[in-house]
Amino acid sequence: MEFHASQADLIKQKTPCAVVAVFEGGTLSSAAQAIDEASQGGVQKLVKSGDLKGELGETLVLHNPAGCAAERVLFVGFGKQEGCDSGAFRRAIDSAAKAAKQTASKQVHLFVSEVAVKERDEAWKAQQASLLFAQRLFQVNSLKSTKAPAPKLTACTYCLSDGEQLKAAKEAVKAAAGIAEGITLARELGNLPGNVCTPTYLAKEAKKLAKGSKTLTTEVLDEKQMKELGMGSLLSVSAGSAEPAQLIVMEYKGGGKSKKPTVLVGKGITFDTGGISLKPGPGMDEMKFDMCGAASVFGAMKALEVMQPKMHVIGIVAAVENMPSGQATKPGDIVTSMAGKTIEVLNTDAEGRLVLCDALTYAERYKPKAVVDIATLTGACVIALGNHASGLYSNQDELAEQLLAAGEYSYDRAWRMPLWDEYKKQLDSNFADLANIGGKEAGSVTAACFLSHFAESYPWAHLDIAGTAWLSGSEKGATGRPVSLLVNYLLSNA
Ligand code: BES
Ligand code: MN
Ligand code: ZN
Repeated sequence: MEFHASQADLIKQKTPCAVVAVFEGGTLSSAAQAIDEASQGGVQKLVKSGDLKGELGETLVLHNPAGCAAERVLFVGFGKQEGCDSGAFRRAIDSAAKAAKQTASKQVHLFVSEVAVKERDEAWKAQQASLLFAQRLFQVNSLKSTKAPAPKLTACTYCLSDGEQLKAAKEAVKAAAGIAEGITLARELGNLPGNVCTPTYLAKEAKKLAKGSKTLTTEVLDEKQMKELGMGSLLSVSAGSAEPAQLIVMEYKGGGKSKKPTVLVGKGITFDTGGISLKPGPGMDEMKFDMCGAASVFGAMKALEVMQPKMHVIGIVAAVENMPSGQATKPGDIVTSMAGKTIEVLNTDAEGRLVLCDALTYAERYKPKAVVDIATLTGACVIALGNHASGLYSNQDELAEQLLAAGEYSYDRAWRMPLWDEYKKQLDSNFADLANIGGKEAGSVTAACFLSHFAESYPWAHLDIAGTAWLSGSEKGATGRPVSLLVNYLLSNA
């Protein structure tokens, strides 16, 4: 999909589909009013008839409105005119995207710049609108034998009435194009089944990403190399699987002053059965999404490769399958991590932290400016925050603030959680330096506390995306979160 921002006049703009705002109570935006005047009251008629109410998310398509160059006008309800907030704007645009997809339009022009959104400018609106259209048009790469036809809609233009914020909007839309590609990749990888998307598959995918690129390189460490590095914790998770673990390292060097890199670390459990601490059957299929942290690292690297910003970023993916078998790690087994700390594996289903701790130690060699790990780490985080916010933990306030701000801007939001010493006691073990579980209380916090022991030498943050990385039910599928947060964070701290 293509994205543009331009200065345009609704009445004169030739387009298969012009998107125009209406507010609660049938109040017309000035764009809707212009169409009303050109069509001698055609829009007011729709309001009077009760067909057009302006309720948030409502849509109505009008064909060939008189006096207007557009083939269709898609009216979208934005709800209350005063105090349209970010969430309402997004809901309205998302509905518009859904409705536009139903039409045969090849292009849309959005004439919603007059909708004032609290605390947001045109660049934000243009970026969000582009991303929402891209997301709606994403099509699941299904293995159904009858393929759904490709969507007709291939271009989206955010229109401004004057040139004042045009430059900023153009830049924001350009960024959106890169982010959208990253999100798409993250969703595609996330949706792949565990029998296709193995650690080896992810390693190949990372090499593919680097192929032909001047700025991206990929290196993959195999189990032998990991063993030599002393990654006993990571390897204890792959012990029960026929699929060998892979440590994938992608490096983006976009030029500029060679600064310390930012390192992203992704949990890439390509399937999490729980291991010997086997998970219950119902819903276990969703554990194919347990590599969504890794997918978001792929997505962020892809976005950088598309956008080519001047910065240095390293993406590390710990790709492992967690299976039970005769060789599998057992509850009570004690393993030694690369950092030298011993870990009592009380529950083999708390495997994410076991692979991440060694990847975090590996990250030290890059002398990073900051390390951010992304993981579908705990069911407890889903209970705490649902699917609206990712859990954010950090050992440095400045880094936490930057990530929260990036989440707020991209509306891919995170919420900070504590890493207090009081919680750390829950990880005490009678037999090793650390236990890998901290009991049923504050499960997301104790998982983060576990990781914090391996991230003491640099500013570090952890995003628990267990609730945000995928949707269940009829809309089951990967969301591509938090690619948008990550890319916005990287761009604003380059
Ligand atoms: N991948 C899961 C976390 C998860 C569970 C994410 C459900 C989304 C939905 C993780 O590896 C896991 O199994 N965590 C355990 C930890 C527990 C054994 C301490 C959990 O959350 O139950
Ligand atoms: Mn698990
Ligand atoms: Zn897991």
